[in-house]
Amino acid sequence: MASGLTMDKIVSLARRRGFVFPSSEIYGGLGSSYDYGHYGVLLKENVKARWLEAMVQERDDIVALDSAIILHPRIWEASGHVGGFTDPLVDCRTCKKRFRADHLADEQCGRKPSKRPGETSECDLTEARQFNLMFETRVGPVEETGQRVFLRPETAQGIFVNFKNVAQLARRKPPFGIAQVGKSFRNEITPGNFIFRTLEFEQMEMEFFVPPDAADQWYRYWIDERVAWYVRYGLRQESLRVRPHEPDELSHYSSATSDIEYLYPIGWSELEGIANRGTFDLTAHAEASGTTLEWVDGGSGERYVPAVIEPAAGVNRAMLAFLCDAYDEEVVGDRERTVLRLHPEIAPVKVAVLPLIPRDAGIAERARALHQDLRRVMVAEHDDGGQIGRRYRRQDEIGTPWALTVDEQTLVDETVTIRDRDTLAQERISISRAREHLLDRLAAPWAPPARG
Ligand code: GAP
Repeated sequence: MASGLTMDKIVSLARRRGFVFPSSEIYGGLGSSYDYGHYGVLLKENVKARWLEAMVQERDDIVALDSAIILHPRIWEASGHVGGFTDPLVDCRTCKKRFRADHLADEQCGRKPSKRPGETSECDLTEARQFNLMFETRVGPVEETGQRVFLRPETAQGIFVNFKNVAQLARRKPPFGIAQVGKSFRNEITPGNFIFRTLEFEQMEMEFFVPPDAADQWYRYWIDERVAWYVRYGLRQESLRVRPHEPDELSHYSSATSDIEYLYPIGWSELEGIANRGTFDLTAHAEASGTTLEWVDGGSGERYVPAVIEPAAGVNRAMLAFLCDAYDEEVVGDRERTVLRLHPEIAPVKVAVLPLIPRDAGIAERARALHQDLRRVMVAEHDDGGQIGRRYRRQDEIGTPWALTVDEQTLVDETVTIRDRDTLAQERISISRAREHLLDRLAAPWAPPARG
């Protein structure tokens, strides 16, 4: 993260360039809810695609799944969520605000924001009560008789209840994993630091089923793998750390959990959790459903309930970390520029095609043709509005790694300039090689430039 970076700067850029908007804005907004605009969608899709590539495409031992969001309600009883997925809450009878009892030191008093809840003589806090984080709804047209169901608070349970289907059909034996990307919902009451904590969010979760005596080894393996994934896609090593949970922090299902934390502008905070869930989930669902959920070795006849190692990441938190790490401000000549130094494979737009003199018919025509050619293989933008310097700065702010400028020289020798977002170096390449040149650069390893 650049020194001096604040969440306000990220929020402002995200809004200015159409990455993220406050949700329901024309109705006054809805707390902890955000809508993603064009560049936000492209960025988020890239994060998910890189995760799926690393989990499924590049490996032989993980398969994909897309389970339903609304599952049988008994799943959430067996998983422990109905009974235990709670936060302790207190209400203030004076200011009518609601706080997490375990986060009072980070909260602001509703009447005197410089004080903590409970710090002033007027504060009148209730006893802490447990508040379930699952959103409830009903299946069926009649509210009173409809069946009570929940919006899933994690994608993981959809994986556990499909263990038998996948293990049989995918012809996999432990160690093997099931990966899923999808929306989850939590009725979070702590308002959330932009997209860090929201009511609905996307998760990228993978449940890795292993022989129980190999669980610890795979737990440590997945911590290293996941840190390496963030570094591969551009997060600086010094902005990442692994924090093992204290025994009193562990979830009900976990015997060991480590958070990969990122140094956000709000301080070190969880980006992803890697948990050793042991045999808790398969055992609980086997008991509750009456279906045997175990691995049976066809050869030896050995049978056992596999242990589960779970790397559970948040798409939106990853997106926020990529934005924070990429954000930079610098002075070039006599101008300031804001630039997102995103990894090219994470950047929403890969290349911009800019006709230097848009009213010149020859230049305009070649720029259009080049754009048409490039957009077949990558997200490419054509921009002919305004001064060239402004157009470069706009692309810098959305993190486009390369800009191709079509100019008078193009009409003479069929070359264009390629400008590099990070170094600002410009070179000429032939139009006929532009597509290949960009694909090569996109496939090349990339590391963030050192901070000045
Ligand atoms: N299946 C395990 C599980 O859900 P978790 O630590 O509660 O574990 C995993 O969630 C990840 O999901 C977190 O590390 C975070 O990135 C993301 N996440 C959780 N709650 C979130 C929220 N309210 N808003 C945004 N992301 C969230």
